[in-house]
Amino acid sequence: MTRKLLITNAAQLITMAGHTDQPAKKEAMSQLGVIENGAVYMEDGKVVEVGSDQEIREKYQDSVNSDQHIDATGKVVTPGLIDPHTHLVHAGTRENEYAMRLKGKTYMEIMESGGGIHATTRATQEASHEELYEQSRKRLDQFLLHGVTTVEAKSGYGLTLEHEIKQLEVAQQLSKKHPMDLVSTFMGAHAIPIAEKDNPEPFVDRVINEMIPEVASKNLATFNDVFCERGVFTPEQSKRILEAGKEHGLTPKIHADEIEPYGGAELAASVGAISADHLLKASEQGIKDMAEAGVVGVLLPGTAFFLMAEFAQARKMIDAGVAVALSTDANPGSSPTISLPFIMNLGCLKMGMTPEEVLTATTINAAHAIGCAEEAGSLEQGKKGDVTIFNVPNYLTLSYQYGMNHVDTVIKAGKPLVV
Ligand code: NIG
Ligand code: FE
Repeated sequence: MTRKLLITNAAQLITMAGHTDQPAKKEAMSQLGVIENGAVYMEDGKVVEVGSDQEIREKYQDSVNSDQHIDATGKVVTPGLIDPHTHLVHAGTRENEYAMRLKGKTYMEIMESGGGIHATTRATQEASHEELYEQSRKRLDQFLLHGVTTVEAKSGYGLTLEHEIKQLEVAQQLSKKHPMDLVSTFMGAHAIPIAEKDNPEPFVDRVINEMIPEVASKNLATFNDVFCERGVFTPEQSKRILEAGKEHGLTPKIHADEIEPYGGAELAASVGAISADHLLKASEQGIKDMAEAGVVGVLLPGTAFFLMAEFAQARKMIDAGVAVALSTDANPGSSPTISLPFIMNLGCLKMGMTPEEVLTATTINAAHAIGCAEEAGSLEQGKKGDVTIFNVPNYLTLSYQYGMNHVDTVIKAGKPLVV
């Protein structure tokens, strides 16, 4: 039997149509494909047609019953939001470090003294597969409740072959069992284990010679990410790691220029990364290189907010022709949130983005940043029936009223989940 769903009379239907072949840049980031009084019809988890309320009703209303029909009067309908950068699978929290930072310690000082990523690594290594699964599942539920239907999830709190694989297997299992779609990234190069701090080369070699081949042969990840930052991985080590990933079919991503300008954006362009993320301190040259090479800039204003740092220069990047996406960076140290809508508020208020640009950055451009724009990120014929209905009268209100959850209903592959 055909599974049907009809959503009618949305005050505004945001389709994001027309950006599937390439991410939206410059003015295109403001082209949302808005249909006032819009409707969408889905079958078997896929979008069949979007259009005006009248035209879609005439064609499809007679074929659905009341369980297959959602009236979106007075509400805004968007593609399900996409979070392209999370550290979803981890154990424990680090509120103690938050308190230390409020008294003046810096993020890097805490990490250098054995806390930070190392603290979460210890907790994650100690956690069983089941414990990690359960903690991560709860976070995914929260993501869904905030309107997100696809997330990228990184490893990187294992730092040994065994524990990196454990994290990626948890993500794989969640992707199968949870309604959320997950896209996995291997990030063995997230930190140098403390014991090897003064002699990191053997660890870099293990990432390249042991972890990457095993992760790739088990098909546990699509992307390969590295934390390229002074005191973590140098641009040279990062390049070796990303090139090694490419040889095994893993597409490069990079945590770039977060704390200081370090050539990360330039490296992203030269290795053909799909995205460079953070970029708080990206250089002019790096921004130019990214625009030319078509690297998506994934900006994480929640991290700047939470680390009380300067924000990335979104305006400059968009004007320079970089396709910008936004993400939570959800993790226990530098951005303990799952609220992508709050990140949209920050994008406007702290990075000079417009309400239109932040919507593009959390839908179709986010899809491009994780290679799933063919299936998700817009409401067009043949795409997944992933839809979020917000209880707001227009899309401006989404980035205007902040710190609130406006989600009314989330529809995943044509199935309503939260009503
Ligand atoms: O993206 N920058 C490096 N990694 C994470 C933080 C991880 C942590 O502090 O646990 C980030 O901000
Ligand atoms: Fe991150």
